[in-house]
Amino acid sequence: MVFSIVEATAPATSANLGAGFDTFGVALDALSDKVLIEKIDEGSLKIEVEGEGSESIPREPEKNTAGIVANELLKLSREKIGLKIRILKGIRPGSGLGSSAASAAATAVAINELLGLNLSSTELIGFAALGELASAGAPHADNVAAAIMGDFIVITSREPLEVLRLRMPDNVEFAIVLPEIKLDTRLARSVLPRNVDLGRMVHNVGRAASFVAGIAMNNVEVMGKGMVDAVVEPARERLIPGLNHVKEKALKSGAAGVSISGAGPSIIALVNSRKVKARDVALAMKEAFEEVGVKSIPICAKPGDGAKVVRRER
Ligand code: HSE
Repeated sequence: MVFSIVEATAPATSANLGAGFDTFGVALDALSDKVLIEKIDEGSLKIEVEGEGSESIPREPEKNTAGIVANELLKLSREKIGLKIRILKGIRPGSGLGSSAASAAATAVAINELLGLNLSSTELIGFAALGELASAGAPHADNVAAAIMGDFIVITSREPLEVLRLRMPDNVEFAIVLPEIKLDTRLARSVLPRNVDLGRMVHNVGRAASFVAGIAMNNVEVMGKGMVDAVVEPARERLIPGLNHVKEKALKSGAAGVSISGAGPSIIALVNSRKVKARDVALAMKEAFEEVGVKSIPICAKPGDGAKVVRRER
């Protein structure tokens, strides 16, 4: 069945989680973007954006993550129609919380329903990742995969795209701080090393394995030990004032692990909710940012669901 209007939401996500650069992502139940897509007669795309940080988002379809995804899906469908896309941002762009991925994921899921395309989750991730390519200048599917599938995902292969989804232990919670710094993903990727020292690679493989083993063992502390990245985070350190101080405070206040969220500037701490309150860790992190003169917003979240259609009209 096809529709004339479909509305979908997609959650904020946190990528990398320490050692899982471009391969780990988790959906967060705290923030989301909403996208409303309507068929229009003219064969063109019209984009409207409102909400959190919407003034910085391009409206030209070829520069907008949702517009790129919509164009690709229209090509696939071969339908001679236009689409009006209304994006309601709940996630601040440039926050490290998968803002562009959420708009891309919600758009892919909404158009799949609108045009009755019956695409699989992996196919939807592939399309949504094309939008990410435009915004970050490099292909990575970690945020969009978590935004579409929900829970925790691992990109086990990029070519062909293969994704695994795992449920995290019930006592996992996240304490996040979003500082008043805007960090462009392109810039945060431009500072990364082109080559990786073998010792650092061994370190990261061990840590990433620890994170996934911790999930399998239902052990949040083992997961937390995996959140130490020796490759990407050291290169990004200078882009986030106070990063090490905030990380230290998070661990001191009882977090099991802590890392930059995605490309930053948000910082995410993993909390065992049976031992510590995520709110206390988030406030300690906020205080640490204040100590270096940076204002921030504390956010608490649990692993959440993926993108879903919330309204359809014939
Ligand atoms: N894995 C990506 C990065 C996430 O760290 O650059 C940012 O969208």
